[in-house]
Amino acid sequence: MFPNLTIVDHPLVQHKLTLMRQKETSTAVFRQLLREISQLLAYEVTRELPMTTRAIDTPLMEMDAPVLAGRKLALISILRAGNGLLDGMLELIPSARVGFVGLYRDEATLQPVKYYFKVPEQLGERLSIVVDPMLATGNSSAAAVSMLKDAGARDIRFLCLLAAPEGVARMQEAHPDVPVVTAALDKRLNDKGYILPGLGDAGDRMFGTK
Ligand code: URA
Repeated sequence: MFPNLTIVDHPLVQHKLTLMRQKETSTAVFRQLLREISQLLAYEVTRELPMTTRAIDTPLMEMDAPVLAGRKLALISILRAGNGLLDGMLELIPSARVGFVGLYRDEATLQPVKYYFKVPEQLGERLSIVVDPMLATGNSSAAAVSMLKDAGARDIRFLCLLAAPEGVARMQEAHPDVPVVTAALDKRLNDKGYILPGLGDAGDRMFGTK
């Protein structure tokens, strides 16, 4: 149904996601689980990174050993909830370059408006992985990807924890070239734009706000 979508149905991911969905899970545990799950999702979203070889010496002999090729990849966090995925991914890919996109919704037009945009240089020569835990309507995600393309990015992947069908469809329509990786595809959005069954407001749950 969604050729742009990969669901990471690994048992560890699914178990941790269930704990995150439970409303009694504390802020500290939610944050820790998001950090752990982001590393499992990072494994999937970086699966096809280009490789090359480097001549090295082991204690026993020389060999041509595999290493990542090309420029350091760029992790782009959509503020503020994206930072929860970003932290764990940076532990796994410490040399990644990092960008931030801040958007708010104009209540009159309902369109996303940019209030912050800072991204690494030479985006056209890097893989950009956009991170935001919740792909709900897809409006802000699609807008963020458009901004990255305007800034020169050509190879973009989108990583989220939960996706709604409406958001995946929106991304597929706006950016069919951008693969979406998620831990689960939920049922639908409610009339306030929350994912059902979902986990509530990801930012509030990770930062302890209401
Ligand atoms: N953003 C969230 O944090 N949660 C949702 O369910 C939808 C968007």
